[in-house]
Amino acid sequence: MLVLAFESSCDETACAVLEMSEEKRIIKSNIIASQVDIHALYGGVVPEIASRAHIEAISKITYEALSTANVTIKDIDLIAVTQGPGLIGALLVAVNFAKSLAYANNIPLVPVDHIKGHVAANYLTHTELKPPFLALVVSGGHTSFFEVKSYTSLEEIASTRDDAAGECFDKIGRVMGLCYPGGSAMDKLATNGDKLAIAFPSPAISKDTLDFSFSGLKTAVVNYLNTKNQKGEEICKEDVCASATYSIVEAIKSKVSLALKQTGYKKIVLAGGVSANSHIRKGILEVCKKLKAEFYAPELSLCGDNAAMIGAQGYYEYLNGAIADVGLNAYPS
Ligand code: KG4
Ligand code: ZN
Repeated sequence: MLVLAFESSCDETACAVLEMSEEKRIIKSNIIASQVDIHALYGGVVPEIASRAHIEAISKITYEALSTANVTIKDIDLIAVTQGPGLIGALLVAVNFAKSLAYANNIPLVPVDHIKGHVAANYLTHTELKPPFLALVVSGGHTSFFEVKSYTSLEEIASTRDDAAGECFDKIGRVMGLCYPGGSAMDKLATNGDKLAIAFPSPAISKDTLDFSFSGLKTAVVNYLNTKNQKGEEICKEDVCASATYSIVEAIKSKVSLALKQTGYKKIVLAGGVSANSHIRKGILEVCKKLKAEFYAPELSLCGDNAAMIGAQGYYEYLNGAIADVGLNAYPS
């Protein structure tokens, strides 16, 4: 089955074509028009600008996705689109574009939850992967554990009580003047720093819960940087990144260990933009080796927002009968 998929929940306009069946999970094209350079001027995503940029990009990238896959709209069997969560004005661009295309060409349309899409990026990287498993979604907006009971049934069992891990990376990166968003730059700087140079608080709030809290760490690092700046003292960015990352990695390691023990799963899947972080990947792998559990993460090109992951999840939603009509609306949260 050929799936045409759309994603416009935040600052990437994305369109992909996939060939999906019981045996095959193939990406035929995966086009992303990123708005990062535009939002970098403001240090964060400006919703109105994001919506306008999606409108400007969506037709062009659809043509590009179809032509790269060497197909036309007549060959498409299914259209999948991110329904939420995300910025409402941004989401509505792809939702309305997909609805029009589906209606005009008489193609079934399936709405896809963005978080489920991030998890589904793993089905494309690991073509043998099947639920059930435990998933940790770490992105700019979310940090949550899910029990993935089937391709379409995910139950959230824990989450951050305040900021997401990505928000924490991005805020620290912004205060240090790193390029936006800061997560990827911090990953590289942390590699050359001393992780024990500065003792920052842990995002693992207590031993008994799987929940996280990143706001204390975020504030502590920002306070450290501001105090250093006020005193005119030099800041070693590598040490700050290494120490903050160490705090995050240790918290994630302890929660992954607890989650595997509490739930009994022997398989954990990492997903979301922050899943690209090399230190987090290494940390979870260590825990999994110790607990004899399997660890999966998406290939780097599928960690951030993209439409291929939406197409993969859309295929399973279709099999589950979740077909939408022209009344389909987006949901922000
Ligand atoms: O999943 P995503 O593309 O968007 C949301 O759905 O939120 O995640 C974006 C987040 C940003 O906060 C970005 O800084 C972070 O992913 N990120 C990283 C890395 N690459 C992207 N964070 C840590 N290390 C990375 N290598
Ligand atoms: Zn995302």
